[in-house]
Amino acid sequence: MKTYEAKILGTGMYAPKKVVTNVDLEKIVDTTDQWIFERTGIKERHISSTEGGEFPTDMALAATKDALVAANLQPNDIDFIIFASVTPDVKLPNSACILQVKLGITNNCACLDISVACSGFVYGLNLANSMIKTGLAKTVLVVGSEMLSRVVNWKDRNTCILFGDGCGVAIIGRAEEGSESKVLAGILNSDGTGGEFFSQPIGGAVTPTTAAHIENDEQFMQMKGKEMFKVATRTLAENGKKCLELAGLPLSAVDWVIPHQANIRIIETTANILGIEMDKVIVNIHKYGNTSAATCPIAFHEAVMEGKIKRGDLVLFDAFGAGLTAGAALIRY
Ligand SMILES: CC(C)(COP(=O)(O)OP(=O)(O)OC[C@H]1O[C@@H](n2cnc3c(N)ncnc32)[C@H](O)[C@@H]1OP(=O)(O)O)[C@@H](O)C(=O)NCCC(=O)NCCS
Repeated sequence: MKTYEAKILGTGMYAPKKVVTNVDLEKIVDTTDQWIFERTGIKERHISSTEGGEFPTDMALAATKDALVAANLQPNDIDFIIFASVTPDVKLPNSACILQVKLGITNNCACLDISVACSGFVYGLNLANSMIKTGLAKTVLVVGSEMLSRVVNWKDRNTCILFGDGCGVAIIGRAEEGSESKVLAGILNSDGTGGEFFSQPIGGAVTPTTAAHIENDEQFMQMKGKEMFKVATRTLAENGKKCLELAGLPLSAVDWVIPHQANIRIIETTANILGIEMDKVIVNIHKYGNTSAATCPIAFHEAVMEGKIKRGDLVLFDAFGAGLTAGAALIRY
């Protein structure tokens, strides 16, 4: 069977217009700008309008339009959409199908939603690479888009300070023969035994949301921060190393690491365990907080736009999330 290489053709992002600073949060929960910044690295986050226009597929539409321009492609060139989100517009139909219509795609492309929380983009990138390799797809739109403000308990200072809304996308396509730019290696894994560390148990088939849940604020996400912190640093470091091993490349060859942006202390600890200097690590958590599946593609897109990441650079994506899910991908951009 003939196989192909895959590469990132273009990227885009969307951040909601409304910015909520730590000082704004001081007014709604018992916290301080200093505590949030010192413990998480976050200064502000963007929050979607509830009036419309900034729901997950709206943000994805805006981000994809830019990615299409960057890739010099038309919507109908996309033959597979992977939409990673834990906050889809609606339960049915899936967000990828909704986005297909918004983009005006008329080629009946395959539409897949994936629910792997903050690892969503890295899962999507690895899936896209595999599908392009085998010829199942030629041009895959990978989306990470979240409106976490809908599932955060704004009365819980342990969680509400951490998250934000936003979207990042990448169009992954077939690399020309002999191209230096390509996805070099990927790794995906999960440990379901840690599911209780970060969950949203109310609102599914087992326990549909009732008025009593709403009265007691039980319908929101729940997190054991310390447990997540420990697992995150270990998993990010292990997957980062394994991914490089799979590609047969040393850490010293890496130009940039794009870690999931959950907490600056997680990022710094991981960099320390891996043994990579922080000036090679892309950090934008101060501006967006944790936008789950959107952090990696937003960080990548911004770094490309700022001229930090250039074609030919070796870039390591590394993420973890609820599930617990995790994964890494090494690309030559
Ligand atoms: C959540 C997190 C920031 C908490 O930081 P921490 O240093 O572990 O803080 P602790 O939970 O030990 O809390 C320390 C104290 O600060 C308090 N505190 C918690 N949130 C606070 C806030 N927003 N403002 C002020 N004080 C706060 C706690 O109540 C606690 O007080 P106590 O000592 O009187 O009980 C950190 O554990 C974290 O980032 N974990 C990972 C979360 C994550 O990555 N989630 C997403 C995964 S994809």
